[in-house]
Amino acid sequence: MILVVHSSPKKQGNLERLVALTAQSSGHDYDMIRLADLTIHPCTGCVQCARSKRCVQGDDMHAVYPRLEQIDGLILGGVNYNGRVNSLAHVFMERLFPLYHQTPTLRNLPVAIVAVGGEAPEKAAEDMAGYLKNIYFCNVVGAALFLSDTPPCFSCGLGPKCPVGIPALTWKDKDLQSFTRVRKEMFLRFEDNPDVVLAARRLGETLATSIAGEWGRPRSGGGFYLPSSG
Ligand SMILES: Cc1cc2nc3c(=O)[nH]c(=O)nc-3n(C[C@H](O)[C@H](O)[C@H](O)COP(=O)(O)O)c2cc1C
Repeated sequence: MILVVHSSPKKQGNLERLVALTAQSSGHDYDMIRLADLTIHPCTGCVQCARSKRCVQGDDMHAVYPRLEQIDGLILGGVNYNGRVNSLAHVFMERLFPLYHQTPTLRNLPVAIVAVGGEAPEKAAEDMAGYLKNIYFCNVVGAALFLSDTPPCFSCGLGPKCPVGIPALTWKDKDLQSFTRVRKEMFLRFEDNPDVVLAARRLGETLATSIAGEWGRPRSGGGFYLPSSG
């Protein structure tokens, strides 16, 4: 079983569809958690989770911890907001801390990263991959990225007029002059980009290979173990 967790607040947005394609490509059963639907508070720093491996805050993360202890692989999706992964993904990763202590539950868990950004999806991917590898010892098997070319200025209503909007700040004069209104075709869909579709498919397959691989996830959370035969 694979758990898909993503941080786009948009239902059926590019990120949600891209993580779904990645999961389908793995061939595994999967469940999806949309972080925007949950109430997850920031870590309070009390570290009471060290013994119990559970957070004292009674929010929606409580239902997520046992699921993370059962899964074979994780797909984590995030979007770039203001140059980094958005806060829903960040608070989720922060609140994985209860699973860190003593025998880290997430050690060697195969993880696939999926990221969407208007201009820099790789920033969100790097944030998520670095966090999960360096703090929780996850086995990050790869990432699929979609550069959506969609700044928030396309949906705010002021698009062509705002002097500090992305078009005014980054577009060439020639393009800006002809930008009078936001058109439907300016909202790109990852399905129209074969490279992105291929990347998601490959990532799902790679995740499946890693799950089946000779270095499987140690169920105890750590210790000495040998590759399984066959
Ligand atoms: C508040 C906000 C800030 C954003 N900042 C950035 C940014 O700094 N860099 C970037 O690449 N994209 C940025 N974006 C654009 C989103 O990453 C882009 O719209 C993406 O397609 C969202 O994916 P989704 O529609 O699947 O949620 C921002 C969007 C919002 C709403």
